[in-house]
Amino acid sequence: MIELKEVCKSYSKTGTLFGMGKTPVVERVSFSIEKGECVGLIGESGSGKSTLGRMILGLEQPDSGTVEIEGLPVRQWAKRNRGKMSVVFQDYASSVNPGYLMKEVIVEPLFAQGQKQGWEAKVKELLQYVELPTDILNRYPHELSGGQLQRVCIARAISTNPSFLILDEAISSLDVSVQAQVLDLLENIKKEFALTYLFIAHDLQAVTKLCNRILFMYRGNIVEQINTSELYHTKNEYAKRLLESVICFEI
Ligand SMILES: Nc1ncnc2c1ncn2[C@@H]1O[C@H](COP(=O)(O)OP(=O)(O)OP(=O)(O)O)[C@@H](O)[C@H]1O
Ligand SMILES: [Mg+2]
Repeated sequence: MIELKEVCKSYSKTGTLFGMGKTPVVERVSFSIEKGECVGLIGESGSGKSTLGRMILGLEQPDSGTVEIEGLPVRQWAKRNRGKMSVVFQDYASSVNPGYLMKEVIVEPLFAQGQKQGWEAKVKELLQYVELPTDILNRYPHELSGGQLQRVCIARAISTNPSFLILDEAISSLDVSVQAQVLDLLENIKKEFALTYLFIAHDLQAVTKLCNRILFMYRGNIVEQINTSELYHTKNEYAKRLLESVICFEI
């Protein structure tokens, strides 16, 4: 469904004279995601995960290389398939307009597509999926807990029946027990909607729970791609280190 070939991205250096020079952030990254797959993208802070996510969403252009969805360049695909690709970010608080009621937050992408008919029933159905009571609909973002607000963001992301969902650190800001609940929710939604996921995270445990394949990113490169079931056979040093740190933590 999604194919990246030799994708490179650099940003201009700041703090240098006239901003000269560029820092490579993503370097010749190639991988593909099949329909219905749930792929985890893991790596330390600053390794280029979100930059890669933004290029898949078409929010940023690669300097070189290609990002294609179903054989089309991403922006062309997005024009033809409006609302079919959604994203949930880590920072749920700034992802929503603080002056909007929850019902306005949820219907925003639907209304943007001109789908106004029957929106009340649709919103109620979405709330059921994300297991929230209807009384939150007339509340403002600051009147919800972090976990509730992230569920609202998930409801909004699936409102347009997307086929592909990018979750960029979508559970990282939540406390551990709420993380587990939201992970379960994401698992159910994936099955219900036959979604394809790219799940970007720091947390290897969360990735192994949700994903069938894991990409390890290190300093702009994908250094390992492995099926979750074969994770313990990885020969890659970086993947091994991450794996060991999780095992140590569990003990
Ligand atoms: N618009 C930008 N302009 C300049 N540099 C940028 C820009 N966006 C990202 N960067 C730099 O690119 C590098 C990779 O950033 P990115 O956000 O992709 O990392 P990440 O892997 O998502 O990190 P984290 O896990 O902390 O979210 C960082 O060094 C960051 O400072
Ligand atoms: Mg990031």
